[in-house]
Amino acid sequence: MDVRTSRPHLPSFILMTLLVAMVCGMTIAGFAAPRNGKPLAATPPMGWNDWAHYQCDFTAQTILTNAKQLVKSGLAAHGYNTVTIDDCWMQKDRDAKGDLQVDPQRFPQGMKPVAQAIHAMGLKFGIYEDAGYETCGKFAGSGVPDGGGSDHFLQDARLFASWGVDYLKLDGCNVYVPAGGTQADAYRKAYAAESAALKKVGRPTVFSESAPAYFQGTPDWYDVLSWVRDYCQLWREGTDVATFDPAKPDRPRFHSVLWNYSYNLPLGRFQKPGNWNDADFIIGGDDGMSLAETRSQLALWSMMSAPLILSSDLEKLSSEAIAILSNKAVLAVDQDPLGKTATLVRRNQIMDVLFKKLSGGSYAITVLDRGPSPIQVELHPADFGFSANSGCRLEARDLWSGTNQSATSTLEANVASHDTAIWRIRPSSSCGTPTRTGTIVMIAVGSHHHEFIDHYTRCLTASGIVEDCAGTSAETWTMTPSGTLKSGGKCLAVADSKTAMQACSASKAQHWKYTLLGNLVSADGACLTASGPDDQSAPLSISACGHNQPDQIWSLPN
Ligand code: GLA
Repeated sequence: MDVRTSRPHLPSFILMTLLVAMVCGMTIAGFAAPRNGKPLAATPPMGWNDWAHYQCDFTAQTILTNAKQLVKSGLAAHGYNTVTIDDCWMQKDRDAKGDLQVDPQRFPQGMKPVAQAIHAMGLKFGIYEDAGYETCGKFAGSGVPDGGGSDHFLQDARLFASWGVDYLKLDGCNVYVPAGGTQADAYRKAYAAESAALKKVGRPTVFSESAPAYFQGTPDWYDVLSWVRDYCQLWREGTDVATFDPAKPDRPRFHSVLWNYSYNLPLGRFQKPGNWNDADFIIGGDDGMSLAETRSQLALWSMMSAPLILSSDLEKLSSEAIAILSNKAVLAVDQDPLGKTATLVRRNQIMDVLFKKLSGGSYAITVLDRGPSPIQVELHPADFGFSANSGCRLEARDLWSGTNQSATSTLEANVASHDTAIWRIRPSSSCGTPTRTGTIVMIAVGSHHHEFIDHYTRCLTASGIVEDCAGTSAETWTMTPSGTLKSGGKCLAVADSKTAMQACSASKAQHWKYTLLGNLVSADGACLTASGPDDQSAPLSISACGHNQPDQIWSLPN
């Protein structure tokens, strides 16, 4: 009898490996590349994280109870499929081998069984670490030790892969900045090192960075936002959404939702499928959020193609809240493959109108009521850049009620305080392709704080000033494919080194280039400059482009 070992013949073993790798859509160089031809996080990630409800008050049981509830409620089947354990899971010190140590009180059986239980529920498993020497909660971080030394990015990435981690949130507290180096450089090096470590380890891991959040309100913010996507799939770019406080369970939290929405919306130019701005957790349905506010948060996050990461006590969600968070049609707006951020079409003291292009010839429209009483508004196709001809009609579906309106030329919104109406529309052929139409906004200097939500952005007007957005037609601009900026039938031009509204022509003086950093650059290379983002009286000017000069950074219709 010919007895052989079970070791396969080498060439056929290599062939088999190649075949398996091809079938699974992996590359031999360590699974780092897209699976099934799709990049990681081709649509905004969805899931649950413990932080905004529990902070450090949790154990393995808390995590597993919520994971079970994610499945039982049906939310997991709607796409919320990744359970992430945030800060405080680890100890303050590493072990003798330099490995991270799990907090034994919270995780008496260690981390692996928790990861396995989450996987066994058909969910993905995520974990939190920090790019600095300590996490925000002062536990052991992965980054360079305080004062210098070797980082632990690779060692920790190996540990995470051994547990089966599918998603890593890498925060940015306590990043060591060496003498003579800049803070932005230190962050870039740290996040690049983590990205390289994840690639080397080879387990496909959705990587969430927090670097930009540590630069919010500084000119470096824009630089960090423009490199962060080279290393990861999503990034936090600003302050935290309000957390649940058991001592004040009824504390209203919608204000913080509006704040995160306000700072996320003007950043649409930085994101694309596979690389997402993260406006922070969905706290809708949790304490301090009404059902109207829950609808608003889901609708606004969906209009921005923001990640949908629930952070609430899932066992306490009402059936109404679960129904809102499971609204298939709204989730489809969030998960639309084009991954666009909505355009801010109109903003006044109490209302925002947004418009988002979807795949397959559809669009989504929302009306948010930020004010204390109900609002009524009528919207027309031309408001969104469709042709103003009378043959232009919309098929419109109200995504909360599911009711349809056919062949309408007017959308009527009756929106309750703190609520958001949302429609999916399909224009008739005579509407044509919409031009990029809406506001041109600038972030007001010094407004990176909650109290300033209403004044966070200021609108460029056709009369050549930047003012608090009032929703007037002088704040409506169209950017044409040839780079002209039109308002009220006239075009913004450079004349005698100043700005002027002129009859539109093919003149180079009416040509503007829009850059990733947010500058509007004239044909001769100068920048459209506000007289000071907070100053209403002086006219616009044309000046030499500075680097991330706040009065030269604009957000345009997407
Ligand atoms: C930061 C993050 C939060 C959370 C905490 C944990 O504040 O922004 O989302 O991770 O740290 O300490």
